[in-house]
Amino acid sequence: MHKNSEVLLKIRNAQTYFPVQKGLLKRTVGHVRAVDKVSLNVYWGETLGLVGESGCGKTTLGKSILQLVPVTGGEFIYNFDGEEKDLRKLSKEEMMQARKRLQIVFQDPYSSLNPSFTIFGSLQDPLKKFGVKSKEERKRIIGDLLEAVNLHRDYMYRYPHEFSGGQRQRIGIARALSLQPELVICDEAVSALDVSIQAQVLNLLLELKEKHQLTYIFISHDLSVVEYMSDRIAVMYLGKIVELAQAEDLFANALHPYTQALLSAIPVAEVGRKRKRIVLEGNVPSPVNPPPGCAFHPRCPYAMEVCKSRVPELKTYVLDGKEHQVACHLAADKVGAPAKSRQAEVDSNATN
Ligand SMILES: Nc1ncnc2c1ncn2[C@@H]1O[C@H](COP(=O)(O)OP(=O)(O)OP(=O)(O)O)[C@@H](O)[C@H]1O
Ligand code: SF4
Ligand SMILES: [Mg+2]
Repeated sequence: MHKNSEVLLKIRNAQTYFPVQKGLLKRTVGHVRAVDKVSLNVYWGETLGLVGESGCGKTTLGKSILQLVPVTGGEFIYNFDGEEKDLRKLSKEEMMQARKRLQIVFQDPYSSLNPSFTIFGSLQDPLKKFGVKSKEERKRIIGDLLEAVNLHRDYMYRYPHEFSGGQRQRIGIARALSLQPELVICDEAVSALDVSIQAQVLNLLLELKEKHQLTYIFISHDLSVVEYMSDRIAVMYLGKIVELAQAEDLFANALHPYTQALLSAIPVAEVGRKRKRIVLEGNVPSPVNPPPGCAFHPRCPYAMEVCKSRVPELKTYVLDGKEHQVACHLAADKVGAPAKSRQAEVDSNATN
């Protein structure tokens, strides 16, 4: 089913709420529920796509995995060569060591590359920190990394402003790979690039994944890009996962009305094929005061009375022998009762 059925990361009930503060005394008057009880598995060697509208919590979930934001609840159980540990419970020193395994590539690495350092200057820091003492050795490694992302090794002596957007993104990827990570979170890694350059960078990411046996979490608001890259796709809405399935199943059999609306907005290339565009009413509600029940109900064309008060749980169904998770009160009517399956432990841990 998956390329490798071993779980690398188990996320259970992850919750990242940001306080909303007001006035001179900075009183907390509410919380932005950026990530709200998210449970999912990430399997070794897979690419898990994460899609959803702007502000639905994709970046916060990525940063929560790396513990780069103050996570407020849940577990992030990482498989350290067979030994499972919760990333939230690691000591500072253990987390520093864990960072070698977990890397993130942001939309524009320009902001994270020091403009007054050459590429060698920026990329050598993590290598130094993790014990590559000889400067010659660091030069060799950085040269090899630049070549791996199809840049000339001598570019290490250039400054960030001397590169194009696509080249800078390759440098960001080279930097993420410098410590030989296992899990790479690509957060809108190609969104700022021209379409022709996007394809080059996506293909480079796919090549590097095979070569270095990487696992990716691939975040994008662009479903076509996510489809191209991913084995499985998770759809997020207002801090929650509303649907998760293998990429081809999600496209062939979207069960959640929100996913159906997202898919209907993708232009269909084939002549003669038409897809009816579903236009969602209203804006994305505020994650400070999400609607009760199913958070999608004010925009859902199928909303029923129960949707206004009861939160639909993310449950696993089996469709054509394949697992498909969805959080919608209508799902059972469409595909029958939920299944007891390998994902069942995710369901049972995911209280809403
Ligand atoms: N540091 C922060 N402090 C307070 N609120 C935050 C913080 N970071 C994110 N948020 C809020 O959390 C919610 C989720 O934001 P996030 O950046 O994770 O969304 P996203 O899905 O990545 O959106 P985009 O597609 O625009 O990148 C938003 O409402 C955002 O305003
Ligand atoms: S639970 Fe109700 S409101 Fe939510 S997506 Fe399903 S039908 Fe629509
Ligand atoms: Mg984001």
